[in-house]
Amino acid sequence: MKLGVFDSGIGGEAVAESLKKEFPTAQIITVNDRKNVPYGDRSPSEVIHLTMAAIQPLLDVGCDIVIIACNTATTIAIEHLRIVFPGQKFIGLEPMVKPAAHLTKSHTIAVCATPATLVSQRYTNLLKKYALHLEVIEPDCSQWAYWIENNSINRQHIESTINDVCARGADVIVLACTHYHWIKELITDIADGRAVVIEPSEAIARRVRQLLRE
Ligand code: DGL
Repeated sequence: MKLGVFDSGIGGEAVAESLKKEFPTAQIITVNDRKNVPYGDRSPSEVIHLTMAAIQPLLDVGCDIVIIACNTATTIAIEHLRIVFPGQKFIGLEPMVKPAAHLTKSHTIAVCATPATLVSQRYTNLLKKYALHLEVIEPDCSQWAYWIENNSINRQHIESTINDVCARGADVIVLACTHYHWIKELITDIADGRAVVIEPSEAIARRVRQLLRE
C-alpha cells in the first residue's frame, strides 16, 4: 500500500510519523512545499494553485490514498482536488469542531488554526453545523507555523495564549494545523488539566482503514 502525505511544511511529517505506527508495512511518501510555506496567510487561489503543484509527485507515483495533511489546504482546496482528480482517493483534515462540540462540558472550545483556515467557508460551515451553541475562541496563532517550521518556537511564545483560552473557560483545545502536532505536549503541559488537547491522527488512521476496505 502506498500512502501519500502532503503538507506545506513539517506538519505532514508529524502525520506521517503517526501513520507509520499504524501501518508499519505501508510505503509512506511525504511531500511538502518548503519553498512556499507557510500557506496560512495566502489567498485561496494561491493555496489551490500551490497544493495542486505540490501533490503532483504523489499522483505520479500512483498513491492509493493521498492525505492532505494540512488543514489550510484541505479547507480551501479539497473540493477542487476531488473534482480535478476524480479517480484519486483523498483524505483531508479539517478542524475537529464536531468532536470538540461533543467533548466540551463548559460549552467553550478553542480552535488553534492558521488565518486562512479560520476564514475559510468550510470552517465556517463546520461552526454553523456543530458549534452554534458554543463559544468558540480562535486565538491568534498566526506566527506559530512559521516558528515551528523554523524550529524557533518556545514556551514563552504560546504560554499566554493557552493560559488565556483556559481562563476564558475553554475545556477543549483543537489543534487545527498539523504543524501544531509537534507542540501538542507543550500545549497539554501549559493547559495543565484545564483543557484536553485534540488532533486528528487517530481519525486519519481510521479513515485510511475505511477507504482501503471500500
Ligand atoms: N500545516 C498547515 C495546516 O495544517 C499549515 C501551515 C501553513 O501555514 O502553511 O494548516
